[in-house]
Amino acid sequence: MKRILVTGGAGFLGSHLCDRLLAEGNDVLCVDNFFTGPKLNVAHLRDHPGFELMRHDVTFPLYVEVDEIYNLACPASPIHYQLDPVQTTKTSVHGAINMLGLAKRVKAKILQASTSEVYGDPELHPQTEAYWGRVNPVGERSCYDEGKRCAETLCFDYWRQHRLRVKVVRIFNTYGPRMHPDDGRVVSNFVVQALKGKDITIYGDGRQTRSFCYVDDLLEAMIRAMNTPDEVTGPINIGNPCEFTILELANLVIDLTASRSKLIFKPLPADDPRQRQPDITLAKKLLGWAPRIELKEGLESTIRYFEAQLSGAMAQAEVIPIARARELSD
Ligand SMILES: NC(=O)c1ccc[n+]([C@@H]2O[C@H](COP(=O)([O-])OP(=O)(O)OC[C@H]3O[C@@H](n4cnc5c(N)ncnc54)[C@H](O)[C@@H]3O)[C@@H](O)[C@H]2O)c1
Repeated sequence: MKRILVTGGAGFLGSHLCDRLLAEGNDVLCVDNFFTGPKLNVAHLRDHPGFELMRHDVTFPLYVEVDEIYNLACPASPIHYQLDPVQTTKTSVHGAINMLGLAKRVKAKILQASTSEVYGDPELHPQTEAYWGRVNPVGERSCYDEGKRCAETLCFDYWRQHRLRVKVVRIFNTYGPRMHPDDGRVVSNFVVQALKGKDITIYGDGRQTRSFCYVDDLLEAMIRAMNTPDEVTGPINIGNPCEFTILELANLVIDLTASRSKLIFKPLPADDPRQRQPDITLAKKLLGWAPRIELKEGLESTIRYFEAQLSGAMAQAEVIPIARARELSD
């Protein structure tokens, strides 16, 4: 049994990660300031003997004894990270400094949740880890993009300077139950708009592409990355390379929800990338991993969650991993 710290543990990815790590028999300390992750996301874990919840802002030092740290704390959607951009940079940079310092003190292994945004608006397609990116350092998204890039820099300096065991994963668009319904991310946006029968907002002409990874697939890769030998530091892209246009996604959501919503078009926000697709050759090689859940299946599960949430019929606790749901239906 390991003692594992998950920062940002009440968020979308963090809460599923807490579920997974507890199910594997670990002790989990979930640290969060609840900026974007509601306590409800982990309320079902309150009575679990291996679970502990701590309100804490990672921009301040933390003194705990743990074996592994998953550093996920950071608002991930543009709407949220642009609300207080100074705090966003602080969360990425001071948060990384504090968590790396903690890992060094207690000799823990640390996984940094980085992002495909480190590639900015890429000239290279799909993006490999060797690509250095094309990021605007002074734009509205820079607090997030540059904050995450600096956090990566810190990880590799701790590795070179202190031989700290670091794992950097670059997460591409991930979706699933417990996404924040109002965070403006494309999947939750479309699903909620379709379920409410509202117009579906497409930014730009809808021909920009994205690749969407279901949360269960993402977590599998993250945990495998944490368990790699010490010499594996990353960065490793994790995401689903299947590419869809935003228009294709919107139409699929309309089909699956049997919605009568209409598509409306609005101007593209600043620095919105035209294309985003991971090259996951390295993840396949180092982690023996590739995503298994197709967009349709992942969307069906996400739609069920939002349907129940919008009708007030379900607590966040009741999310079942797709692999488990498949077993139950066999
Ligand atoms: N979901 C994605 O598609 C995606 C893509 C790339 C990277 N990521 C990264 O994965 C991580 C988790 O993303 P998510 O989608 O779950 O986002 P989220 O907003 O749902 O979760 C982030 C969590 O961090 C917490 N948090 C924010 N600032 C904090 C602070 N200063 N101290 C303590 N807690 C703080 C929030 O309250 C929230 O619970 C983030 O670091 C994000 O950058 C996510």
